[in-house]
Amino acid sequence: MTGTVIALTGTPGTGKTTVCEFIKEHSLYRDKYRIIDLHKLIMDEKLYTGRDEIRDTYNADMERLRVRVTELIEQTPVGMDTILEGHISHYLPADVIIVLRASPIALRKRLGKRREYSYEKVKENSDAEALDVILVESVETSDRVFEINTTDMNLISVIKSVVEIIDSLKKGKVPEEYLPGKIDWIDQVEL
Ligand SMILES: Nc1ncnc2c1ncn2[C@@H]1O[C@H](COP(=O)(O)OP(=O)(O)OP(=O)(O)O)[C@@H](O)[C@H]1O
Ligand SMILES: [Mg+2]
Repeated sequence: MTGTVIALTGTPGTGKTTVCEFIKEHSLYRDKYRIIDLHKLIMDEKLYTGRDEIRDTYNADMERLRVRVTELIEQTPVGMDTILEGHISHYLPADVIIVLRASPIALRKRLGKRREYSYEKVKENSDAEALDVILVESVETSDRVFEINTTDMNLISVIKSVVEIIDSLKKGKVPEEYLPGKIDWIDQVEL
């Protein structure tokens, strides 16, 4: 029997990879969660349909990605849960979607430090965060969606929140604190 499958999603810069890198390294977590880095998987196995030159990204081949991820989930060792990490993970089959959120102002600062990010790309992402784009996409595909406002949280607290959500669901409880709808950043859209 496979364990729980968690889609860990969120706008670029919200901290998905940072969370998963820690989980992979820390003895408390590394034997509990298997991480699937979707960006790496797509690039390593060329699971894309082509390149979007304007947005400077690759377009994932969602059909092939879905098949491959399903195969990988089946290979997760017994007793472990699987975390699908990436900003398109909410489009893949999962038992729960966790959306990491960070205030658009904080995101602008974080993404502004990425040398490969143009001004337009920083703005596009921070505006998408302000408009709840990924959250809306997530609730359209699943009714088990939770969000964590990481803005003023350190890494350990974010990880504890992720684990708390997963553990609550396993006990049949709804982690009310993380239900969507408590975050409103509409006033942070840049005009
Ligand atoms: N809780 C946090 N508080 C402050 N800074 C953070 C926090 N989590 C991550 N960061 C910083 O934010 C930046 C972006 O984090 P990260 O690369 O993990 O985001 P990501 O969600 O994986 O983005 P992408 O979708 O582009 O891969 C990094 O510089 C990281 O150090
Ligand atoms: Mg990342």
